[in-house]
Amino acid sequence: MNKIGRKFLVNDNDKDLHTQFGYFKKEDIKKAKSGIKVVSNTGKKFTVFDSSFIDLYKRIKRGAQIIPLKDIGLIVSETAINNKSVVVDAGSGSGALACFLANIAKEVISYEIREDFVKIVEHNIGYLGLKNVKVRNKNIYDGIDEKNVDLVVLDLPEPWKAAESAKNALKVGGFLISYSPSIPQIMDFVNTIRKHEDFVYLKTSEIIEREWEIDERKVRPRSQAIGHSGFISFARKI
Ligand SMILES: C[S@@+](CC[C@H](N)C(=O)[O-])C[C@H]1O[C@@H](n2cnc3c(N)ncnc32)[C@H](O)[C@@H]1O
Repeated sequence: MNKIGRKFLVNDNDKDLHTQFGYFKKEDIKKAKSGIKVVSNTGKKFTVFDSSFIDLYKRIKRGAQIIPLKDIGLIVSETAINNKSVVVDAGSGSGALACFLANIAKEVISYEIREDFVKIVEHNIGYLGLKNVKVRNKNIYDGIDEKNVDLVVLDLPEPWKAAESAKNALKVGGFLISYSPSIPQIMDFVNTIRKHEDFVYLKTSEIIEREWEIDERKVRPRSQAIGHSGFISFARKI
């Protein structure tokens, strides 16, 4: 793997590695060990290091729109899931959230209604080398097979329809989170949760990340930024 300014290149194919600063032959890449510097055919210096989960995660296959890292950050910090946690996620989409959570939790079971997306998720699980994620090709509104789970995360069009399934699957004190891009979805989800005697509604938040460009004395917010992604609503089963 090599760094070009802000970019890191992952070489996971048995091919020569071509970059805008020259190329490396596959035989030379295979011999390269983590920590050493290598020089491309045009004389540019690269540092080789072993890729970590995040390097591979950023290259997963995409079918459905994936949840951004800034939003995953809030889900993880508000629930404090750890290596004892069992998590249910739906819909899997590209499996981005399911795979990220599986890198932290004991087990993730992901529900996806579309067979073509299930295949993408299975590919991504294999690519990331995860052994603790299962994908179920099922409609989550019809129920969740698992019981006593610590967290149910919903990223699908009508999350309020999964409230009963989530209630039956969650342990008391477990978290129910819904991630939705638009206001009518949060309204219907929160109103359903507020009326439900087995849930306590906690809050809804939107995370706005503003990255800054720092180049000598040119210090300012980056001109291209992520706009709106989604609202995150939190509840707990009682
Ligand atoms: C926006 S994507 C989820 C993206 C995912 N969180 C990620 O980070 O990759 C929404 C997914 O929900 C799936 N879906 C919609 N309704 C569903 C249902 N009732 N049960 C299971 N999956 C459903 C869709 O097919 C789609 O793949």
